[in-house]
Amino acid sequence: MRKATWIKEIFEGNVALGDIFLRGWVRSVRKKKAFSFMVINDGSSQQNLQIVLDADIENYEALSSCHTGACVAIRGKLVESQGKNQSYEVVAVGGSVLGSSQQDYPLQKKATSLEFLRENAHLRARTNLFGAVFRIRNNLAFATHRFFQEKGFYYINTPIITGIDAEGAGEMFNVSTLSPDKVKKTDDGSFDYKNDYFGKSTSLTVSGQLEAETFAMGMGKVYTFGPTFRSENSNTARHLAEFWMIEPEVAFADLDDVADLGADYIKYLIQSALEGCRDELDFLQKRPEVDDDLVERLMSVSNSEFTKITYTAAVDILIDCGKKFEFPVEWGKELQTEHERYLSEEKFNGPVIVTDYPKDCKAFYMKQNDDGKTVRAMDILLPGVGEIIGGSQREENLDKLKQRMNDMGMDQDSLWWYLDLRKHGTAPHAGFGLGFERAIMYITGMKNIRDVIAFPRTPKSADF
Ligand code: 4AD
Ligand code: MG
Repeated sequence: MRKATWIKEIFEGNVALGDIFLRGWVRSVRKKKAFSFMVINDGSSQQNLQIVLDADIENYEALSSCHTGACVAIRGKLVESQGKNQSYEVVAVGGSVLGSSQQDYPLQKKATSLEFLRENAHLRARTNLFGAVFRIRNNLAFATHRFFQEKGFYYINTPIITGIDAEGAGEMFNVSTLSPDKVKKTDDGSFDYKNDYFGKSTSLTVSGQLEAETFAMGMGKVYTFGPTFRSENSNTARHLAEFWMIEPEVAFADLDDVADLGADYIKYLIQSALEGCRDELDFLQKRPEVDDDLVERLMSVSNSEFTKITYTAAVDILIDCGKKFEFPVEWGKELQTEHERYLSEEKFNGPVIVTDYPKDCKAFYMKQNDDGKTVRAMDILLPGVGEIIGGSQREENLDKLKQRMNDMGMDQDSLWWYLDLRKHGTAPHAGFGLGFERAIMYITGMKNIRDVIAFPRTPKSADF
């Protein structure tokens, strides 16, 4: 078989005119008497390619009667196109149908609501829309490694199965080989995991942070990039039960250092998509699902300073703005999505870094401020997405950390190793977690997180 060409190579200008061999999936066929036009896409780029099929070529009947969704191989000549919509086309001399498609192929031009596509997620990769989203996702994953590697971070992998609840929120999926009806109860009525695979209760991880800290306290600058699981029952457009998180952890850093790192990272991702996926972004912003100022917005954010305010200042702004919120604003309470949206969308119209939250809103490991009320935490908020990053400086003082765990009624035995870090060679350090799908939402302009991960896991839904 002669060497096959990918459509992307053609539009990059790397393919000589003349003989060519291609494969792809049929997007449409317009059948005329003496010839037909077929449009194919092979997934390599946003570009489709038009094939001219003359009625006298071999296999004409089979090729020209293909339904949308069929897979074909085409031999022909690459020529510069006469048509105004494309720069190249292929005049076929022959070809074959690798896989035919049926009349009931689900992805017909009209029936393609996002909801419908989610139900047919096995075919989403064949649409222009999901091709664009997932090529951008790929770009951002690679950019993530580039960003941290260029800054001298080491990539580490933390466990997926864990015995600890790093965030202390209790939103974990259990991992067990025991069938629920065979688990014995202990005298106090709780489950006895002694006979379970690990001899104790284990779950899927909600964060690799605590393990990443052990590596930062030896290798300096590290980051994780892995799957993360939360059983919170949040059936929203921004929550998944299984998502991907990037968690850098930096020795000798304080909160301001990692706030800057987070802002730089977000800008780097945006720039990477603008440079590497411009066709995809241009395509997306023309779609009805996406705001038509996507590219302009990304360009402006990639060059702008992120606003930084304290939680206390944010609460003052929210109280003084006179807007009626569903959840009342009060110092000491969590900021709700509507509050975060007001700050990033209305008040500052751009990314906002909120710092120094009340300690009771945040996890046990955050560094306590001298005021006794707040911790050195930060959330980075983006318009349209809300919280994209959560992070903090870590409490490196052993006594203060133990005290806080005590106050929160936490078991210290299982975290003996985490406390040990503070006992031997403790150092200031800080880090954050960025929700990868939330970053993809922001950069693609897609409004539902289910449409930026291949096979979403959400409450009552784990198909495919
Ligand atoms: O704010 P979170 O809970 O922070 C942590 O887990 C820290 N241990 C991170 C660290 O300091 N190393 O989660 C971090 C980010 C959130 O800002 C959000 O973008 C994303 O993870 N996230 C989710 N994304 C999708 N679905 C969910 N259910 C998410 N929960 C958190
Ligand atoms: Mg958070």
